[in-house]
Amino acid sequence: MTDTLRLRRPDDWHVHLRDGAMLAAVADATARQFARAIVMPNLKPPVTTVAAAAAYRDRIRAAVSPGLNFEPLMTCYLVDGIDPDELVRGHGEGVFTAAKLYPAHATTNSAHGVTDVRHIHAALEAMQRIGMPLLIHGEVTDHTVDVFDREAAFIDRVLNGVVRDFPELRIVFEHITTKDAVDFVAEAGPNIAATITPHHLAINRNAMFDGGMRPHFYCLPVAKRELHRLALRAAATSGNPKFFLGTDSAPHGIEAKESDCGCAGIYNAPFAIESYARTFEEEGALDRLEGFASEYGPAFYRLPLNADVITLERVPTPVPARLAAAGTEIVPFHAGETLAWRFLG
Ligand code: DOR
Ligand code: ZN
Repeated sequence: MTDTLRLRRPDDWHVHLRDGAMLAAVADATARQFARAIVMPNLKPPVTTVAAAAAYRDRIRAAVSPGLNFEPLMTCYLVDGIDPDELVRGHGEGVFTAAKLYPAHATTNSAHGVTDVRHIHAALEAMQRIGMPLLIHGEVTDHTVDVFDREAAFIDRVLNGVVRDFPELRIVFEHITTKDAVDFVAEAGPNIAATITPHHLAINRNAMFDGGMRPHFYCLPVAKRELHRLALRAAATSGNPKFFLGTDSAPHGIEAKESDCGCAGIYNAPFAIESYARTFEEEGALDRLEGFASEYGPAFYRLPLNADVITLERVPTPVPARLAAAGTEIVPFHAGETLAWRFLG
């Protein structure tokens, strides 16, 4: 049995680092494991300009402990009627790596999101022209659609149209949760990829209702039925470079989760690579972890591979029930469990 795993250092292609005291509390967890991360722009107010993204990038760099080499890759939050020139300029200046489409009211801090993709057609045209990736939170917001069907409905109602209208646009279907999304991405052209989170590989929707309401397993898109989890595990461990790592680590203080209207989001950053390693080992695919975690993402984003290596050791690794952060506590993913792999650095 393998007892030491060495991998080219991975990157996180989807993370929420927040701002202020919470940023200061969580930045190192991501920076310890990952060389780079695509940072979500759903702050209050959202990051919609080059200046705001550059300032946020400075705050992230300042929050990461000296000695950790970490490169935040910034994204622009798309709003109705956004000026394509701002995207083109930000991309050209190396500030915006990509732009994020949140359907309005789909999730946390998405009130300013896009109400109809027609309102960002000019932006999508410019992004297609310059090769700037579009990152999509793929859920319809129509409340007559069952919450567990909103990703599949998004493919039918929105994504097919975007792909038809912008056939060369480079798209990442973020944090996919369904077999429908796996199949869509697998069958699409090489310009379409997807990220998969540790939690959607590990839990199905039953986790939210196991003996009572379990708010720490609530995120968006919400975890689906077991058949979908199995499709995600097959995709992640398949060696298909269209599927790569994106944690969607999304910290919320415990009081915001354990509430009569608990926030969506799972904080998995502190044990992210250990969690993925568990899934890949369970699937007999540890040899494919490096491609998923460290190679396919850079290839899609047309960025160099990281040169350095991380090491994981087979040591029982207990995950704390709570972590202190920003004057409160966060319940991390896998809280109270013991993972088989330990990240050494
Ligand atoms: O669960 C989620 N949390 N999904 C999202 O799309 C947003 C995120 C957050 O910002 O908390
Ligand atoms: Zn997210």
